[in-house]
Amino acid sequence: MKLLAYLPPLPPLLFAVLTVGGLASKALHIALHIHSLPFLYFVLYAPTLVLPDLLVIAFVRVLLHTPSPETKLQWVWACLGGLLSLIVWSASSIQFGFFMQTGAEVAWAASNSFLSDPAAMKILLSGISTVCAAATVLALVAWLAHAKLYHWTGLGLQAIQDLFKGSYKMRYTLLGVPNKSWINKSWLTTMDLRTVRRIAIAVSLCSSLIFLELTRPSIPYDHLSGALPLTLLDAFTKKSSTTGGCRQTPMKFPLWTDVNTGFMTNSWSRPSWLPQNPPPGFSHYEHSPDERAEKDNPAWYLCNDNEPGFYNPKTDPLKISNLGGDIYEPLKAAFNEHSVEIDHVILLTLESGRKELFPMQQGTPMFDALLESHTEEHRDEAIDRLVTMTPIAQMLTGEYSTDSKGEKVDLSGANWHDPAEEGMGGLNVRGALTGSTLTFKSILGSHCGVQPLPVDLLEETGLEIYQPCLPQLFELFNRAKNPVSELLERDDTASGALKNPWKSVFMQSITDDYDRQDVLNKNMGFKHNVVKSTLTSRKSKYRAKGEEINYFGFAETELKPYVRDLFEEAANNRTRMFLSHVTSTTHHPWDTPDDFQLEHYMGDQGNINHKLMNSYLNSARFVDHWLGEIMTMLDETGIANSTLIVVVGDHGQAFSEDNKDMTGTYENGHIGNFRVPLVFRHPHMPRINIDVNATSISIIPTILDLLVQSHSLDARDSEMASALLPDYQGQSLIRPFIPYLKERHDSPIETPSDIDVRSSRKTQPKEGHRTRYNWNLGIINAGGSMVSVTAAGSPYRLVLPLKEGFEYVFSDLNQDPGELHPIKSWTMDDLVDDVLSKYGEAAAEWLEDAGLVGKWWVNEQRRIWGYREA
Ligand SMILES: *[C@@H]1O[C@H](CO)[C@@H](O)[C@H](O)[C@H]1NC(C)=O
Ligand SMILES: *[C@@H]1O[C@H](CO)[C@@H](O)[C@H](O)[C@H]1NC(C)=O
Ligand SMILES: *[C@@H]1O[C@H](CO)[C@@H](O)[C@H](O)[C@H]1NC(C)=O
Repeated sequence: MKLLAYLPPLPPLLFAVLTVGGLASKALHIALHIHSLPFLYFVLYAPTLVLPDLLVIAFVRVLLHTPSPETKLQWVWACLGGLLSLIVWSASSIQFGFFMQTGAEVAWAASNSFLSDPAAMKILLSGISTVCAAATVLALVAWLAHAKLYHWTGLGLQAIQDLFKGSYKMRYTLLGVPNKSWINKSWLTTMDLRTVRRIAIAVSLCSSLIFLELTRPSIPYDHLSGALPLTLLDAFTKKSSTTGGCRQTPMKFPLWTDVNTGFMTNSWSRPSWLPQNPPPGFSHYEHSPDERAEKDNPAWYLCNDNEPGFYNPKTDPLKISNLGGDIYEPLKAAFNEHSVEIDHVILLTLESGRKELFPMQQGTPMFDALLESHTEEHRDEAIDRLVTMTPIAQMLTGEYSTDSKGEKVDLSGANWHDPAEEGMGGLNVRGALTGSTLTFKSILGSHCGVQPLPVDLLEETGLEIYQPCLPQLFELFNRAKNPVSELLERDDTASGALKNPWKSVFMQSITDDYDRQDVLNKNMGFKHNVVKSTLTSRKSKYRAKGEEINYFGFAETELKPYVRDLFEEAANNRTRMFLSHVTSTTHHPWDTPDDFQLEHYMGDQGNINHKLMNSYLNSARFVDHWLGEIMTMLDETGIANSTLIVVVGDHGQAFSEDNKDMTGTYENGHIGNFRVPLVFRHPHMPRINIDVNATSISIIPTILDLLVQSHSLDARDSEMASALLPDYQGQSLIRPFIPYLKERHDSPIETPSDIDVRSSRKTQPKEGHRTRYNWNLGIINAGGSMVSVTAAGSPYRLVLPLKEGFEYVFSDLNQDPGELHPIKSWTMDDLVDDVLSKYGEAAAEWLEDAGLVGKWWVNEQRRIWGYREA
């Protein structure tokens, strides 16, 4: 009872919670963007930024005007005011909680897709403690300040009210004396001079505010002035994109190109290699010529709903084919000797797999950042601990780490030893980037060779994937064989083995409920899935023994009996295996099973908390060990010599150690989220290091090329694979990668007139030769806010915003490989100006092209996918 006495009346407290929550949220919002605002403008427009908050505060203060409501109406107002206050308080707490976890802002527009997804809710709930902490702090401040806030705002509102009353009285008097001018002295003296002065001040204040509000640039100030709870309404309006789908004018490719981007030529006929009943995924090979020509027209998607899209490799101005190039000499020799046998394919997707960790070695910006957490005298020790973290990755890539003394690290303690001969092991790509920092969008690239849709979350699941995915390709090979006669009497001769049917299996130890992944797997053609529900089901052969380690499910090691069974089946049952396995322990919150011994990789230097990074590094070591177990099982079942293993990261993972301001992948364009390992491992393929900026869309073309060139397909399959290969967008990595073409053009560059090309191009491209880049586009989690634009063979990088509230970011990765000092700006024009003065003409020209290509691509992807915003 006594405690109750300390509780203030509710309305003032609720009001204070609203004021503190709203203003704190606004302060955070502005603080996150302040570095990119010109100081003078910011000062000038600052009042307009808080105006909406002040209006909300005044409105709620009016609703809560009495500390103890009595009449019914007062109760209704008070309840409404209270509700708004609680909403603002919660929303503000969520914003702060989210900021403390990721450094990013909550995008309310994306929240409804999250709320309808149980697994996504769990992710949100994992941050609940920071949200609660934020809520407590806000409430405490509100409690301390409630009396004063309530009182002052009351006084303020009262004054305004009096002012109006005064002016009303004044007008009344005015009307009462119609014949006299209002500047009449005798009238003025009868009025309260102070009131007049106050009104004059109020009117001029209001009009200057309105003037500022009307004249301020809409970007970024409109976004910055958004106030709680009004911004929450975004969640109920459909996402709006500046390059929206259907209603936009079609875009021609904005740069000069000698690719014919016009209509299809009508030389199409049903491919002779296509079986009568192709599996799903090949339907677009059955379009009639008219249909194809129609869909190839950029104007087609203007107003066609519910129609699958269409991709035509022949008219894609971004596609550069390297299939005319020779296969790397040592590989060619191995293929000619028929020594590379690929009966099985494993595609390992490493969750949050950063290239810097595969293997962990010295000399990366990340490694330097890790060392900085240690004092000088402990650094050598730290180096030696770090470089032994991922021994399996060292063997798979052939990149052997050196220790603090510069000596090769001893790998004898690892749980697998590479039986491949010296100099063998396959292709190791250095410089690969992911196509999306959202896991499943990235998986679409690696499994289907497509570029995902630049919209939030897995909208692709409602559409037809525009290229056949790996399981569908293998199913095509199965279909092409006479199912009855040949499968029944499979023979064991070498060429007979090529007639064995493929079996595609997907495995992960976590749930596939998250964001329609189960639908995606089905659409990609997986019929056999081992996921968390398999591990928990009573009907399953092996049930999980350990505890769940994160909000998605179990550690990968629970899959071990399933993996072994599959390998044994592949070895003994005349089956060709395609296994796709996605690891999961390396996902936030980076927990590992209890019996896994944790190491201290991080020191305590620097003013950031290294706990998360330490957990991440430990989980990476856990997964490295798990890869060792998989490799051992391959050896034990005897299929290692006939299995191609592709290892790729789904995306990277930026930490505070990379960039203090922004961590995680969500709406964070940092390069640490993009660099991934990419390895094509086969013990009988010579080791080749490939230094190119390829992306995971090269995986399918490379696998197909490898299968054909290594004679691992029979004649019919080989014909189909060779016919399909040129239709994929990516380049094959067994031939030299073409980062850009120098194209000759004699006429001056013609600028397409129907798109918005800046008239003031500072750098008119020179006549003669022009570089056509292999552009790499990367979609940033959750999909619809930003796109990363890079070009193979160019050090520059642009992060292109697709929505209000995000900035244009430029960096030069040669000079700043860790992207510590990017240039940011709210408009492309300003960014180009900045880059021109700091990096010169070539960089500015590249940047302009990148911006045009990025915008064009975002539109084009919608057409290719047949996506129309609802
Ligand atoms: C072996 O293959 C046959 C025919 O495809 C299949 O019916 C059987 O289940 C397979 N056995 C195992 C152990 O996978
Ligand atoms: C795999 O190939 C190696 C040569 O690289 C050979 O020594 C080994 O015996 C082969 N293993 C099997 C199971 O055939
Ligand atoms: C592009 O590839 C080169 C060569 O491997 C590499 O040095 C560079 O870091 C890569 N770029 C990015 C953004 O990873």
